Amino acid sequence: MPSLTITYEAFSALGDLTDEDRELLKLAEAALEHSYSPYSNFRVGAAARLADGQTVAGWNTENAAYPMCLCAEPAVLAAAAARAPGVPVVSLAVTVRSPRRIVDRPASPCGSCRQQLAEHEGRFRSKMRLILRGQTGPIYVFESASDLLPFGFSGGLL
Ligand code: THU
Repeated sequence: MPSLTITYEAFSALGDLTDEDRELLKLAEAALEHSYSPYSNFRVGAAARLADGQTVAGWNTENAAYPMCLCAEPAVLAAAAARAPGVPVVSLAVTVRSPRRIVDRPASPCGSCRQQLAEHEGRFRSKMRLILRGQTGPIYVFESASDLLPFGFSGGLL
């Protein structure tokens, strides 16, 4: 029977990360402060490193009409596109804060975010490294955002 394996790295401490990954995670943490999340109170901060070395930050932005929430991941992709049109994002760090609990494991991007991250990789033919962390706990690193979306819908079918 066919089977699928997803490979990722799990680090137990920030000090185990590369300097670049740690720096990006710190930028994602700083971005939490700007989260506009008065309805869920759940903050998501993201930071992207572009292929030209620039970094940009993004965060979740909610709306009284709940389905219109903008997740931090597409927000940072849009910020990156506005900053440097045509330049791919090569790494993305994401972290979260909850008012209800200490989030002690990485928060994975939602399905819609995965689809958008995979589109970005396909469009630029470039892998996007994902660095995910909760408030505490392990840090997961995926070499490619598409690793989180096996059997995802692809524009190649259209
Ligand atoms: N959220 C994100 O920003 N990214 C995700 O991948 C999942 C969820 C936000 C949307 C909403 O503002 C809050 O987290 C709670 O769902």
